Amino acid sequence: MKIFLTGSSGFIGFHLSKYLLEKGHTICGFDSMNSYYDVNLKKSRLKILNKYKKFFFIKGRIENKKKISTSISKFKPKIIIHLAAQAGVRYSIKNPRVYLESNITGTYNIIESAKKLNVNHLIIASSSSVYGANKKIPFKENDKSDTQLSIYASTKKATESIAHSYSNIWKLPITMLRFFTVYGPWGRPDMALFKFTNGIINKKKIDIYNKGKMYRDFTYIDDVVKGITSLLNKPPNLKQLNKYRNDSLSPIAPFRILNIGNTKKVYLLDFIQVLEKELKVKAKRNYMPLQKGDVKVTLSDTNLLKQITGYKPQTNYKIGIKRFLSWFKSYYK
Ligand SMILES: NC(=O)c1ccc[n+]([C@@H]2O[C@H](COP(=O)([O-])OP(=O)(O)OC[C@H]3O[C@@H](n4cnc5c(N)ncnc54)[C@H](O)[C@@H]3O)[C@@H](O)[C@H]2O)c1
Repeated sequence: MKIFLTGSSGFIGFHLSKYLLEKGHTICGFDSMNSYYDVNLKKSRLKILNKYKKFFFIKGRIENKKKISTSISKFKPKIIIHLAAQAGVRYSIKNPRVYLESNITGTYNIIESAKKLNVNHLIIASSSSVYGANKKIPFKENDKSDTQLSIYASTKKATESIAHSYSNIWKLPITMLRFFTVYGPWGRPDMALFKFTNGIINKKKIDIYNKGKMYRDFTYIDDVVKGITSLLNKPPNLKQLNKYRNDSLSPIAPFRILNIGNTKKVYLLDFIQVLEKELKVKAKRNYMPLQKGDVKVTLSDTNLLKQITGYKPQTNYKIGIKRFLSWFKSYYK
């Protein structure tokens, strides 16, 4: 199958592309290789993907309407997986505009191209952060989600809304995926596991927000990849109305929202303890207040994904941490 994949040099995009290439699919990756975090890490990921004969790469920004639409229309994919985005909750407080441009205008450009080409399935990354200030856990796709706490979360929520209206007007099958704190080898340097590991190894103080009194539904990358791939041939379809319990399928459009999480909430201080045990070093802790925009608890309900694909994530965070550390040590020597 021909798949156009944005954000292919990113953490999730790299793993997903590699998995799909191993399965024999043809991938056109698209990424700006921006310097939000270490570009060398992105280059190393891209170098691995470039070894596959069926991988093609285009460097560009999704905000560039002409570039993205010509790239997509020339490649003629059956499926588009759109992961490119300006990620990160905290940076969105410092530099909100880039989120509006990349995540809203950029995503709009992808949706518009998908419509022109009439693709079988457009899959777009959203985020668990759209649940915002919701108190009821676990988070379910049909829960109200109107209280985003950061611009990052707001841009993700906005793309869900734009995608729905396009899906309605053009009958374009779109699945929005709400990922929950994804971690693992080749992970993002701006995220907790990477920052803690780096700090502990280099004997530097690690910042622990809300004094560690937070819970995260840490989801291992392989589980996310399997979750996404299990959905490729399951585009939303109005004939599925009333087929699944608590379905988020729109009553008027081939549009569905799905959580991809591990369905376990892990206490941040326990997470750090496991890391210390594995590294055999005590962390120097810098307890900080809750950061603006941060959510205290995330926990997914993934029953809908399970009903549709039979798939449920299964990697325990202790195993996931071990795998991350083994990659980290070999990559950074
Ligand atoms: N990792 C997580 O825990 C998590 C959680 C929820 C949602 N998400 C979403 O999943 C997607 C992938 O996340 P990730 O963790 O792999 O992030 P990432 O930053 O590692 O990957 C994103 C990639 O997109 C590229 N990119 C950014 N802006 C671009 C633009 N304007 N044009 C073209 N390319 C651009 C970057 O260079 C990067 O390689 C994102 O949409 C993110 O918001 C991730």
